[in-house]
Amino acid sequence: MNPDFESLYREYVKDRLGAEIVLMPDGFVQYNTHEETRTLFIHNIHVKKDSRRKGICHALVGELEKVVKEKNLDRIVGEIFLFDPHARQTILIALVMGFDIMSADGGKITIVKYCGGNHG
Ligand SMILES: CC(C)(COP(=O)(O)OP(=O)(O)OC[C@H]1O[C@@H](n2cnc3c(N)ncnc32)[C@H](O)[C@@H]1OP(=O)(O)O)[C@@H](O)C(=O)NCCC(=O)NCCS
Repeated sequence: MNPDFESLYREYVKDRLGAEIVLMPDGFVQYNTHEETRTLFIHNIHVKKDSRRKGICHALVGELEKVVKEKNLDRIVGEIFLFDPHARQTILIALVMGFDIMSADGGKITIVKYCGGNHG
């Protein structure tokens, strides 16, 4: 990956979206952490079409789980918008990966994965 582009992209994600990013050669995930609610919130996750079904999403979520532990959080939360053409598939993949459905409201499904070890 071109290091200049990588640092430009990281700066954009931080400054414009207020988010952090885990960047891999064929995929990325943008996220925020909220210490008060002990939540890591996924903004966007994307894997290059040709590289799907090779475990990259697993690896990205694995990196998020490390952040959850490092920052003493306890859950990863994401939102799936039902108007998204990939929504059905994303819900399926999320369930396979151990997320549960937390709520469904106004065309949006919120998913959660508890992974901090202390769910109090
Ligand atoms: C959703 C997405 C990130 C998954 O990435 P991926 O790298 O292909 O996922 P993985 O290979 O790590 O697979 C994760 C699990 O889901 C399963 N899976 C992946 N794609 C699947 C599919 N099309 N149908 C059924 N199961 C699928 C895998 O078998 C794996 O299950 P396992 O743990 O039993 O092996 C990727 O498909 C993507 O970028 N989609 C478009 C963008 C998108 O939908 N983003 C979310 C918008 S809300």
